[in-house]
Amino acid sequence: MENTPLYTALRDFAAQNPLRMHMPGHKGKALPGPELAGYSSIDFTELPPTGNLFDGGGAIGAAEALWAEVFGMEHCLFLTGGSTQGVLTALTLACPPGSELLLDRGCHRSAFHAMALLDLKPVYAPRPWLDKKAVTGPISPSDVENLLKTHPNIKAFCITSPTYYGVLSDIPALAAVMHRHGGILVVDGAHGAHLPFLGIDHYSAADLVVVSAHKTLPAPGQSALLFSGKRFSHADLCRAGSIYGSSSPSYPMMAALDLCRAHMLEEGAETYQKTAEEVAALRRDFPSLIDEDAPLDPTRLTLLSPDGFAAQDQLEGLGVWPEMADRGHVVLIPTCADGPADFARLRQALGQVTLGPCPAFPPPPELPEQAVTLRQALFSPGKDCPLNQAEGEIAASPIAPYPPGVPIVAPGERISKKTIAYLDRIGYNNGCRICVDNCV
Ligand SMILES: Cc1ncc(COP(=O)(O)O)c(C=O)c1O
Repeated sequence: MENTPLYTALRDFAAQNPLRMHMPGHKGKALPGPELAGYSSIDFTELPPTGNLFDGGGAIGAAEALWAEVFGMEHCLFLTGGSTQGVLTALTLACPPGSELLLDRGCHRSAFHAMALLDLKPVYAPRPWLDKKAVTGPISPSDVENLLKTHPNIKAFCITSPTYYGVLSDIPALAAVMHRHGGILVVDGAHGAHLPFLGIDHYSAADLVVVSAHKTLPAPGQSALLFSGKRFSHADLCRAGSIYGSSSPSYPMMAALDLCRAHMLEEGAETYQKTAEEVAALRRDFPSLIDEDAPLDPTRLTLLSPDGFAAQDQLEGLGVWPEMADRGHVVLIPTCADGPADFARLRQALGQVTLGPCPAFPPPPELPEQAVTLRQALFSPGKDCPLNQAEGEIAASPIAPYPPGVPIVAPGERISKKTIAYLDRIGYNNGCRICVDNCV
């Protein structure tokens, strides 16, 4: 593979057979376990030939710059702590502590954790409820515009796109709205690292973008990327990223990111197109979320079922392991690593599974009262409580059934009779965690 500055630097240094009087303790020798044997040779620490992730420059900086180019962004920071590290870093850059943040209610828990750490005050952007398919649709730029008018102190908006179910929002239009109001758009694209390789420019208008390479690209677990546009420098990314990242980031993981990009440009992008075609055919042949419902990631396959959990069990019984299921859906993540034989096997299995319209779900109820801040709630002592005894209590953790996959109650919000009735109606009985002594 060509143009892999970090991988090449590590391999060349390892080939010099340096006497490693530094960590890691394996000294480049085989780790126990045959699967891990070759892994240690390029597992270095910060040395002049290997560079330092959070200092910028060197072979790591060169590899990051190549990624930024693919995404049409100015800067990139390698993340070895998943998109979780990226969301924490991005919100630290975008939001002064104590400020208001416009948030997609369906954001991952890392966004809620960032809000607690930074003591942010959330205002939630609504998503339409797509009744027939029981998922939330894209966030509308005009809704965001209206919220910015009524909350003029908001200077940042964090949105998840694509969602777990593959729904895309219009990022260029949302970025334009935020920029008109002097604000910052943060996109949690954890599920969409592959989109630029499909020729889809989903992210480049945003100010900060986080993607999990490990979710949809040939890259190891926890490898992820943070991108910025002109508004944040590479030094900004390094400074904030180092707050949440290990001071010993994994060199094999960073080398894998370097190799992943080169591989995708050489052949993976073409294979990904074939995956998109296979998924389009599966969507035609099996009850699924389709483009007529909402703009979708062309490779996410969200199947509909009258009983998603039963369909998941049936698939697992046939040796096919989905990403997740809920009461009305089974979500599969096909990638460029799935070839014609994998799709043939999948198609055969889907033919034996109970799929069809998903059961009716009421739309999520209106937002509960925010009784204490997210920070107070998440850092307060809590205790587990059966839902039917939680009326009037304050949630210490999110209550987030799928669907809709958005917290029906977020930390710090009061659990009302209406909310309990809704959760009961959709069959959610996982209990909850409540604050002790109302967190005061
Ligand atoms: C939307 C979203 N954002 C962020 C994350 C965190 O990603 P990671 O597991 O790479 O830390 C996830 C994980 O599932 C996610 O679904």
